[in-house]
Amino acid sequence: MSDPIVEVRGLSYSYETGPHAKGVLTDVDLTLATGELVVITGPSGSGKTTLLTLIGALRSVQTGRVTVGGRDLHGLDARGQEEVRKGIGFIFQTHNLFDSLTAEQTLHLAMELGSQPPAARGDQITGMLAELGLTERARAKPAQLSVGQRQRVAVARALINQPRLVLADEPTASLDAETGRQVVDLLQRRTRAAGGAVLIVTHDPRVIEAADRVVRLLDGKIMANNRRLAP
Ligand SMILES: Nc1ncnc2c1ncn2[C@@H]1O[C@H](COP(=O)(O)OP(=O)(O)O)[C@@H](O)[C@H]1O
Ligand SMILES: [Mg+2]
Repeated sequence: MSDPIVEVRGLSYSYETGPHAKGVLTDVDLTLATGELVVITGPSGSGKTTLLTLIGALRSVQTGRVTVGGRDLHGLDARGQEEVRKGIGFIFQTHNLFDSLTAEQTLHLAMELGSQPPAARGDQITGMLAELGLTERARAKPAQLSVGQRQRVAVARALINQPRLVLADEPTASLDAETGRQVVDLLQRRTRAAGGAVLIVTHDPRVIEAADRVVRLLDGKIMANNRRLAP
């Protein structure tokens, strides 16, 4: 068996310090194996986004252990965190695209940070836009795109460098049923092909249906971590 993509052990986190600091995450354990699509659900404020940003090296680990691709995130400096982030495809709830860039330019810019040779980039971008139904929108800027189209550009940007880990926070919230399903299929297919794993925060039943495992957070603690059984 290959090493897990993500391993979280005894992770606790607090935004406050001092003796009365209230913890946001308490003793969280989580493993993501190669090929897995894992969903995190739980009520608002239960710590889902905090957990995702800790695994994504967007904040520093305080207590416990987080490894991503075998690399321990504890004590990493800003540069080390940046290296870890380069290997992760992020999709946020709000698309955070640059207003001045077309869909195509967004993907070119993302690929400049990746390791693909420049000669191969054009074809990959064309293929990715086609897979997300954005071929006709390649030269459109965010203001000219629908909410769903913008989110699909954000998905394309997250996947274009073939990351082994994709972290997504409510990625299908602005998508219609059909597109939401397509995006999840694509996330699953692409990440598996790259030998990776996907972690998605969502309440969307269409995404939960596609998951291998569903983790439920409540008040910063894992209440359930169940392999989803086929219906
Ligand atoms: N930057 C922050 N500073 C202080 N408290 C925060 C911050 N971000 C989130 N929190 C608090 O941490 C708790 C968990 O938040 P979050 O991880 O965003 O939960 P979820 O994504 O499940 O809604 C909430 O009580 C929230 O108010
Ligand atoms: Mg959240």
